[in-house]
Amino acid sequence: MFTQDQLKQMVADAAKDEVLKNMAPGGILGIGTGSTANLFIDALAPHQKHFSGVVSSSQASTDRLKKHGFIVLDSNAVTGLPMYVDGADEINPAGHMLKGGGGALTREKIVAQLAHSFICICDASKEVDVIGKFPIPVEVIPMAQAQVTRFLEELGGKVSLRKVKGSDQVFVTDNQAWILDVAGLNVVDPVRMESEINQIPGVICNGLFARRKADVLLIGGANGVRRQTY
Ligand code: 5RP
Repeated sequence: MFTQDQLKQMVADAAKDEVLKNMAPGGILGIGTGSTANLFIDALAPHQKHFSGVVSSSQASTDRLKKHGFIVLDSNAVTGLPMYVDGADEINPAGHMLKGGGGALTREKIVAQLAHSFICICDASKEVDVIGKFPIPVEVIPMAQAQVTRFLEELGGKVSLRKVKGSDQVFVTDNQAWILDVAGLNVVDPVRMESEINQIPGVICNGLFARRKADVLLIGGANGVRRQTY
């Protein structure tokens, strides 16, 4: 039996192989955020010369990439990326994902949107039939927090303002915004729910990645890494 950390390491290594096999030397790679993405960054570090640069989805990933010596490019400097590699908090059988547990959802969506192929890397605990057990993160402009909370409650959600772990301080994103975590929504139509939440004034972005879903899933379980395409 593998531990969750071992499963994350296995998919990080598999993603490194996937990227090196499918990307021609000199390309630019999109890289996500979180503990699985961190393992991927570390696994890729010895091969960084394969890429002319990377685009990162958070300050935390940028710091880690730079420490390894990667050239980190501004997302405004690229018009497209062959691949984007990132973790997820949930993924359903269609490849729709829920992301943002680490608070980087907006930048993740921006970089993912630039990519031809989204490679999702996660352990088997993230696989679900219906998205919504994990609260949906919604990044908001602080002055709209109360209003957006009321809208989300009308949709049936139980809303809490994200705090820094183990403290009473409000969690502030890389975009100087706040995050509302919305529990209790049964997301039977993720594409529709993603759009509906985005329509609320003051919402910057939400953690449903349904319009831009995964193209490839590398998922670690008891039998090793399974590769699936959508
Ligand atoms: C960060 C994310 C992460 O990809 C997601 O939370 C999964 O994280 P981890 O690999 O640590 O389980 O969306 O905003």
